[in-house]
Amino acid sequence: MNSLSNWTVSAQQHVEYRVEIVDGVFDRDNLALVDGEAGARRLIVTDAVIDDLYGDRIRAWAEANLSEHRLLVLPHGETNKSWDSVDTVLETIDSFKLDRRREPVIAVGGGVLTDIVGFACSIYRRNTPFIRVPTTLIGLVDASVGVKTGVNFRAGKNKIGTYFAASRSLLDTSFLASLNDRHVSNGLAEILKIALIKDSVLFELLAGHGAAALASRFQAQTSQERAIIGHAIAGMLEELEPNLWEHKLERLVDYGHTFSPTIEMRALPELLHGEAVCLDMALTTAISLNRGHMMTSQARRIFAVMKSLGLPTEHPAMELGALANALEDTTRHRGGLQRLPLPYGIGSATFANDVTTSEIAEALETIKALSPENAKVAA
Ligand SMILES: NC(=O)c1ccc[n+]([C@@H]2O[C@H](COP(=O)([O-])OP(=O)(O)OC[C@H]3O[C@@H](n4cnc5c(N)ncnc54)[C@H](O)[C@@H]3O)[C@@H](O)[C@H]2O)c1
Repeated sequence: MNSLSNWTVSAQQHVEYRVEIVDGVFDRDNLALVDGEAGARRLIVTDAVIDDLYGDRIRAWAEANLSEHRLLVLPHGETNKSWDSVDTVLETIDSFKLDRRREPVIAVGGGVLTDIVGFACSIYRRNTPFIRVPTTLIGLVDASVGVKTGVNFRAGKNKIGTYFAASRSLLDTSFLASLNDRHVSNGLAEILKIALIKDSVLFELLAGHGAAALASRFQAQTSQERAIIGHAIAGMLEELEPNLWEHKLERLVDYGHTFSPTIEMRALPELLHGEAVCLDMALTTAISLNRGHMMTSQARRIFAVMKSLGLPTEHPAMELGALANALEDTTRHRGGLQRLPLPYGIGSATFANDVTTSEIAEALETIKALSPENAKVAA
């Protein structure tokens, strides 16, 4: 019998979005961004660095292909990943009188910019579609692939945000030509993460061709460069798709993200996110080695690849007390268990719930022995 005082509602939300590699997204005659429909109205949001580098090209494309447009330029960088930036996007959407059913907002930039715009779109009228055009390697293989949006809040990284899918992500690798080496390495760290936990083919690609991809900024257009990006995105999506809302707390993509938030915050602004992730991966590789999850030769190869990708394996911010606190902190956020992803050989992983502080101390010593310079002396 139906009750008149107690109801349970159950519904499911269907999510579908496209992630596509598109060359020359702002070439004058390329209509991919408007799904082939010339003469549309669009609000485009970018940051000041992209505006300097690509603003003329974006404006020329918009003038050739849109009936009306506005280009909003936000200040760049992590320190501007704030509510103020969200507010600016919301005001602009409102004053542009955007028809949210037909006029998706276009976000062109790195992870900071696409996270800000995605968050603003998710709350403007509760749901305003947007399209991502990532311009950094982190954006291409990570921030523009999943459904998380957000900004920093009261010193908390990404503390406010939503799960909100962009309707499309158009990935144009030609933007990487203007990135500096460190930002390419930064993205390569997230690619190495996928390789270590689930894709030995990707690891071999990085070992054989990663350094060349870094030197060319992925502009040599070789099949290996394309394969590195393709494998990284496919691997990431394979992990994200069954767990888009992160209800399951054992997540392989958390690899490299247990100790790194603490390392990153301790070293701020010295370390980029991917660099801190790599330090975390160096530590957890050493823990795996000491647990017998991999051979010394495999751990040495991992360290050599990290170095060849321009990534660090040691840093003064990796201090034992801080690392032990980081593990405790993460355990709290992971429902009371460590759920620490650890590489198992190269290309697969396992979860640990019993890593001790003395193991971390031992791993810090192992890191020293594994770093390529010391390995030569030890060999
Ligand atoms: N939503 C997600 O799932 C997700 C995933 C990973 C990272 N992120 C977020 O992404 C952010 C990091 O992303 P990022 O590394 O792209 O940082 P970023 O957006 O700050 O870009 C780095 C710098 O490079 C500049 N830049 C961007 N494209 C350029 C280009 N083509 N040429 C030259 N300079 C360029 C930017 O203006 C900025 O100064 C973090 O805030 C992180 O939280 C989000």
